[in-house]
Amino acid sequence: MLNQIVDLLQMVGWQTAVLFLVVFFIGLYWIQQPVNLPPGPTGWPVVGCALKVKSGETHIAFTNWSKQYGVVFSVRLGPQLFVVLNDLRSIKKALHEQADDFSDRLVVDFAKLLGVEGSVVFENGTVWKERRRFGLGALRSFGMGKKSIEHSINEESRYLLDGFADKQGKPFDATHLINNAVSNIICKICFGYRFDYSDPKFAELIAILGEQLSDSSSLFANFKSAASEARTKRNAEFIIDFVRKIVQDHHQSYDENDIRDIIDMGIAEVKQSKSKEKHGGRNKKEFFNDGALIRSVIFLFIAGTDTTTQTLLWTLMYMALHPDVQKKVQSEIDEAIGGSRQPLMTDSPNMPYTNAVIMEMQRMRPVAPLAIPRKTRDDTTLDGYTIPSNTCVFVNIWAVHHDPATWTEPEKYNPARFLSADGKSVIQHGSLITFGTGRRACMGENLAKSELFIFFVNILQRFTVTFPEGKATPSQDGSAGAILGPRPYELCGTIRRT
Ligand code: HEM
Repeated sequence: MLNQIVDLLQMVGWQTAVLFLVVFFIGLYWIQQPVNLPPGPTGWPVVGCALKVKSGETHIAFTNWSKQYGVVFSVRLGPQLFVVLNDLRSIKKALHEQADDFSDRLVVDFAKLLGVEGSVVFENGTVWKERRRFGLGALRSFGMGKKSIEHSINEESRYLLDGFADKQGKPFDATHLINNAVSNIICKICFGYRFDYSDPKFAELIAILGEQLSDSSSLFANFKSAASEARTKRNAEFIIDFVRKIVQDHHQSYDENDIRDIIDMGIAEVKQSKSKEKHGGRNKKEFFNDGALIRSVIFLFIAGTDTTTQTLLWTLMYMALHPDVQKKVQSEIDEAIGGSRQPLMTDSPNMPYTNAVIMEMQRMRPVAPLAIPRKTRDDTTLDGYTIPSNTCVFVNIWAVHHDPATWTEPEKYNPARFLSADGKSVIQHGSLITFGTGRRACMGENLAKSELFIFFVNILQRFTVTFPEGKATPSQDGSAGAILGPRPYELCGTIRRT
């Protein structure tokens, strides 16, 4: 057989044979394309259009393609087919009106390594419903909307401000401090305690989470190098181990009459689930066990830390870029709160300008520009196009936030777009969808809003931030892995009050 192939190749010539094979595979690729897909850019077999997308700028490539091919378009990046929704109308149609078809999650590689069983972010169907119910209940009990969490954020702010003060006005990168502070809020809610910023294990956890979330292959799994895959695996093992130990400690000191945090709540749920399991009646996957509890906590960490951290880093960068805006925020703080006490969420309604500044930042630089990937449950249609089951669907938040049909001069930084004409109240805008929309919208939105407001106000109450003198202004483009954060930059924090 091999001899016959070699004879044949010698007869037609190697070049003709290679050409034939290339044409054959391109033909096969085209024949295998599903019919009536949304239009989109033409790609090559195997790589699709991946080579046309600059690393970290997928949201921008998608936004440009939507101008050419329409607000609902399809594209292959690697062998995987993606459908991208780029305006509020198509997003609402899919995520609200056809929620059964578009509410499942695609499981990205990092999540596979951590294990998705029990995770609210990546489970689907009835298990997801159960996990979301538990997660929302847990966040409400220990976080969102509670006075106690405001106190925790203010307590953490004091450590953060000490960190700023230690720099004595010299240039520093605030990422580490802010990341620690934000992560400690989730630690407090989940573990019942915070970590010291110098704790080496905690520092490692933060560094690993940051590394993983800045890796764009966390979302686009097709072009992973062996080194990146090995690193991802190591990272996943470290994170699981870290949380497993804390869950084990909680088991030792568990007291059903003193539920201290989300892990205790989870342990109560595991015990309840075990007793239900004994009496039968439910699908095994729906039972909650320690593994599912560990993963629930890990995914709260992943969803709730870098998102908030990077939003704060963007906001501080724009304060240094726009000193006039910073001054106005500080005047509002001085008037509404003064300098002798820390902010509370009850101050928020009296501070429309500060809120508008946070909202404009979330519009201009949404930290999850492509949300978290979804997939179609079954074959479905949208706007007359056919979308096969298991197609990855991206919601392009970036495109919605930069749509000139919605926003006047969308590239311009202008907090006033969120203010009434007299500047006395905030205008809510339906096209601001930083936290996603529909059934799978962000679960931590209220907690994130409290953190953003309290941390930001604490910082500007005590410090004025500027860029180091004589250095180039940092890039405002950012760099997107799973999260769109600013590229590393330095600030100086000058004390306003002591
Ligand atoms: C500025 C901060 C944050 C931003 C911009 C943000 C944004 C998002 C976005 C865009 C999604 C996907 C929504 C969709 O698919 O439609 C999401 C999902 C999620 N977020 Fe957030 N988030 C933030 C903070 C948080 C915090 C603090 C927590 C919790 C402690 C959290 C927990 C979650 C969870 C659990 C999901 C998955 C929900 C599900 O699949 O049912 N997020 N977030």
